[in-house]
Amino acid sequence: MGGGAKPVLIAQLTDIHIGFEQNAGGEELNDLRLRITIERLLDQPNVPDMLMLTGDLTDRGDAASFARITGTLGACPFPVYPLVGNHDSREALLRAFPDCPNEDGFVHYAIEIAGLRILCLDTFEPGRHGGAFCARRAAWLAGQLSAHRHTPTLIFMHHPPVVSGIDWMDPRADEDWIVNFGEAIAGHSQIKAIHCGHLHRPLQTSFRGIALGVSPSVAPAVSLDLRPVDAAVPDGRALITTEPPGYALHRWHGGTLATHYETVGDWQTLARYGPQLQPMMRDMFAERE
Ligand SMILES: [Fe+2]
Ligand SMILES: [Fe+2]
Repeated sequence: MGGGAKPVLIAQLTDIHIGFEQNAGGEELNDLRLRITIERLLDQPNVPDMLMLTGDLTDRGDAASFARITGTLGACPFPVYPLVGNHDSREALLRAFPDCPNEDGFVHYAIEIAGLRILCLDTFEPGRHGGAFCARRAAWLAGQLSAHRHTPTLIFMHHPPVVSGIDWMDPRADEDWIVNFGEAIAGHSQIKAIHCGHLHRPLQTSFRGIALGVSPSVAPAVSLDLRPVDAAVPDGRALITTEPPGYALHRWHGGTLATHYETVGDWQTLARYGPQLQPMMRDMFAERE
């Protein structure tokens, strides 16, 4: 039944995109999607120790959209840590989250909990859709990693530094920012996983041998289409679809990170643990003895 120290539970919401519908005049679709995701997060049986918001909190980086987010998140009884995405604004984010650490003009910081370090990175460059990771940010990351070589570490960042196959969302694998990030983490075996957003789809892959996950988005999803895109030929393919919102729950326990993704919806319960299923439960536990 587990044993040892209590697990650390880290919830992750990404790509909320509040303010996508300008002049919505009330609750827009992304407000609704955030609201039902937070309701589910607070209603499900696993109380997180913290919530990471991995960027694109807003669609245009405006203060009113950030205020709608902090209003909805006000119900959360655990600490909330925001990261900046390409649709956000550092200044507006820091005004909305005045306790959010930042340094040297970047929204990057370290969190420590129960012997685990969590590094939150800033991959934002105003005006750019894709990621950025300059020499100053790389030096900060390398310094953090060098100072804590023996502490298990998770990295959270908005942009995944990998090619997913969803052509229009992908970086080139050898972009400068990806090279800088790769060099900063080289040789640091204390990094147990990297978790990202931006893609608006769940993804599991690796970067330089380290497990890398992308959480599903709160805002509508990027369609799963792995065919090449020709920027000169609009071929009518689906780009964005109304798949339900999702979130991640990362469980750190016994030196292992297990990441769960839940799709938010009004799902029907088909089996409950009542006396009729107790024999099955006993058999399953007996196998583990
Ligand atoms: Fe996004
Ligand atoms: Fe993004």
